[in-house]
Amino acid sequence: MKKVGFIFDLDGVIVDTAKYHFLAWHKLAKELGFEFTKEQNELFKGVSRKRCLEILLDIGNVNATQEQFDTWMVEKNVDYLAYIEKMDASEILPDVPRVLKYLQKKNIPIALGSASKNAKPILEKVDLLPYFDSIVDGNNVTKAKPDPEVFLIAAKNLNVDPSSCVVFEDAVAGIQAANAAGMVSIGIGDAEILNEADYNFTDFTGISDDFLESLINKEHKG
Ligand code: G6P
Ligand code: MG
Repeated sequence: MKKVGFIFDLDGVIVDTAKYHFLAWHKLAKELGFEFTKEQNELFKGVSRKRCLEILLDIGNVNATQEQFDTWMVEKNVDYLAYIEKMDASEILPDVPRVLKYLQKKNIPIALGSASKNAKPILEKVDLLPYFDSIVDGNNVTKAKPDPEVFLIAAKNLNVDPSSCVVFEDAVAGIQAANAAGMVSIGIGDAEILNEADYNFTDFTGISDDFLESLINKEHKG
């Protein structure tokens, strides 16, 4: 049997931070004189902070100097971090700890593969950091999802062949990144939106121990 590795996205997979990103972007948009909607916030899933601000300014038809752009990046993050500060384990999405515990018990290497630059503090806040053998986040990558870079670095850190890695993702770009890396992609969320995934689940409550076992034992892509 080949050694397998499991890679988790953070936002929307382990915790629902999209609501806090939304509140922080919404406040900035308001200050700049326009509305930012929850529907528009969907476009921001899996997208880097810098790219999000570019899209936000496009939505509001706002031109920014480099200095303003940098100031707004910082401002949004300060507001976002104020929400993160109040997070605790009650915000972990259903059954995520069960799955992490199951994999840990089996000595399966586990990595985080996220675009966020705040991944570590968030995992610390919700008490999940000890499960992860490697954290690859927005501080370690040069290319954003759908580029496979983040997941390929995670596989390397886990010392597992990319074709023997399984990725949990809630964003279309994340599923595309996992597929481009030659990994097994598991969509968490709306199956119609995440239709490029190898498997789909609404959340982790649908992921049984038997299913995990089948992933651990299966011959992976490639
Ligand atoms: C995740 C979220 C995005 C967010 C990005 C950067 O991918 O889904 O909505 O923009 O991380 O997060 P950060 O914490 O670095 O601002
Ligand atoms: Mg996500």
